Amino acid sequence: DAEIGAASTGRTGADHPIQRELEAVFESCRDIDGGAPADYIPELARVDPDRFAAAVCLTDGRVFSVGGARDAFTLQSMVKPFLYGTALHRFTPEAVHARVGVEPTGRPFDAMLILESGSKRPHNPMVNAGAIGVAGMFSHGSEREQVRRIRSIFSDLMGRENIEFDSAVYLSERDTGFGNRALAHLMHFFHMLDVPVETALDFYFKACAVRANCHDLAVMAATLANAGTHPLTGRKVLPAKVVRDVLTVMATCGLYDYAGRFWFDVGVPAKSGVCGGIFAVVPGRMGIAVFSPRLDENGNSVRGLSFLERLSKRRGIHVF
Ligand code: DON
Repeated sequence: DAEIGAASTGRTGADHPIQRELEAVFESCRDIDGGAPADYIPELARVDPDRFAAAVCLTDGRVFSVGGARDAFTLQSMVKPFLYGTALHRFTPEAVHARVGVEPTGRPFDAMLILESGSKRPHNPMVNAGAIGVAGMFSHGSEREQVRRIRSIFSDLMGRENIEFDSAVYLSERDTGFGNRALAHLMHFFHMLDVPVETALDFYFKACAVRANCHDLAVMAATLANAGTHPLTGRKVLPAKVVRDVLTVMATCGLYDYAGRFWFDVGVPAKSGVCGGIFAVVPGRMGIAVFSPRLDENGNSVRGLSFLERLSKRRGIHVF
């Protein structure tokens, strides 16, 4: 399953130290079987809980992977940093931060009543309320326009055409997302949404249902590691200042109420999703993606966390 793109060292993927380390860490985590896949979105519970894959993309574009790194999953909350980045790219920081703060909540991703007391903003763009508010800023237009906009954002980030949606997951979330609907109504009540509640929600649900695999996710993470320049296409996808802001908020809020412990153990900005994916960004060096659907009580992939902790120790990726 090993693969390598644009190898410039003359080494094959299989004998490169990173490939060997990926394989060793992957094997050491394979028997970890705690946790359970998310089931609050009924369609997510249908996943094979034993799936496990990982990939690394260096900022020079070389990609290493292990497991089913081309097997797709829905991105879920891992879209949130990119929605925030898109908002910062399209609007001024002042306009974006009138809608969302940058403070960790110390609470779960779906916590209710998480608007800041004075400003009525959601605390940060990594919790659901914040991501829905941010998505609301550019979610206007018809269903077709929404789909085109989401495809364009993720096509640039993945460096490929044909961005797909998992319509079963999308419909499942749209039909059951009453907590998110409540958050959106609360924001509407406080005049924090510029579009109708269902427009913001629909854009957010669609974005969460974008399909990607570990290879794509590692490339997206490497785009952030590379200050916004895509490691494969060479395109400037996001300005460096935007990337800095995105990574800053990921560092403190990306893993919700596990963000402190993750920062302690792994030491790089990261974002998890209830699908079981986590991506991590080692600035200037690489993007890392891992996927395994069993989640712990914080909603983070059990194997994914162990994988990143062990890889961080072996490669010395902690920023301090
Ligand atoms: O809002 C939701 O419930 C999902 N579409 C995404 C949540 C998610 O992935 C939280 N992550 N850990």
